[in-house]
Amino acid sequence: MSKLNAAITGIHAYVPDYILTNQELSTMVDTNDEWIQTRTGIKERHILKGEGKGTSILGTQAVLGLLKKTNTKPEDIDLIITATVTPDMLFPATSNIIAHETGCINAFAFDMNAACSGFLFAVQTGRVYIESGLYKKVIVVGADKMSSIVDYTDRKNCVLFGDAGGAILMEPTTEDFGIMDADLHTDGSGKDYLYQKAGGSAYPPTIETVTNRQHFIYQEGQSVFKFAVSRMADVSADMMTKHNIQPEELAWLVPHQANLRIIDATARRMGIKKEQVMINIEKYGNTTDATIPLCLHDWESQLKKGDKIILAAFGGGFTWGSIYLKWAYDGDQVEKI
Ligand code: ACO
Repeated sequence: MSKLNAAITGIHAYVPDYILTNQELSTMVDTNDEWIQTRTGIKERHILKGEGKGTSILGTQAVLGLLKKTNTKPEDIDLIITATVTPDMLFPATSNIIAHETGCINAFAFDMNAACSGFLFAVQTGRVYIESGLYKKVIVVGADKMSSIVDYTDRKNCVLFGDAGGAILMEPTTEDFGIMDADLHTDGSGKDYLYQKAGGSAYPPTIETVTNRQHFIYQEGQSVFKFAVSRMADVSADMMTKHNIQPEELAWLVPHQANLRIIDATARRMGIKKEQVMINIEKYGNTTDATIPLCLHDWESQLKKGDKIILAAFGGGFTWGSIYLKWAYDGDQVEKI
């Protein structure tokens, strides 16, 4: 039997309606549009408003759109993996809720947490289920309601994040398309620089943890920045070298959207032009697990069968990695919804 590759055969993404601009943030904390744009590249981000609304809403909307666009029956989905750091609840898994809400009644579903690299880790996991021949239709979701863990009195962090969800369909092919290689890493010494301290088993919620604002993101921005620049750039450049991809041959770099300066440094290290890089951080900010599918969704109509693409990410943990893939369909043939 010929080798099975895991191809991405569809993409969809969803952002909530409410737009939080730099201008509005400057009425909440001591910041300004110029600082935010210069340091991060972000102009605005989308926020999911409404009591009781969690990440599953973002993921569900992305999956419903994906099923429609790919003309896929929900009952044909075998597995849903959701990468998120902001699950609706600690359990049941948000993936479980998404499967229910989308009618994927025959799928088993689970969550993965690898911070901002979670989508890549989940794609690699979906890939091996497909390549093994066990499953034929796997959905990978990247979704986060970051506004639920952002402290809107902390000017260093509240400007960075937004809410969104994205989803891809992965299916087997014997053709030379799909995920070609993945290089993923973790380094637990990074746990001291970027975390949400309370709410888990080490520090369950108490009046004190809430008063001390420990249910929000804590980040030592400069330490994370230095780590991110070197690791994301190295792992992406190494992937090009390993597969002998010349800079002009690469159709797209799809980087995690955390900071424009980190993206620029990665592109420079890879020797590619800015036109080869998907950048939409100005519209959405850092949506953690959703940044990469959100980029693929925004650029879908420009993607061509056979395009060589590198996905790259880094995040809390630390976690980081890159995935090399050959795009499996012409995006301009896809029905717009
Ligand atoms: N508005 C105005 N001034 C600000 C703001 C703000 N929003 N935030 C910080 N400042 C001030 C600081 O107080 C400081 O002032 P001081 O010199 O008087 O003390 C000055 O600006 C510089 O602050 P730095 O923290 O040194 O700014 P830096 O250039 O490092 O930028 C940033 C901060 C944008 C957070 C950057 O460090 C960064 O992008 N880090 C990486 C973030 C990241 O990618 N995280 C990983 C992904 S997230 C995940 O995995 C969940």
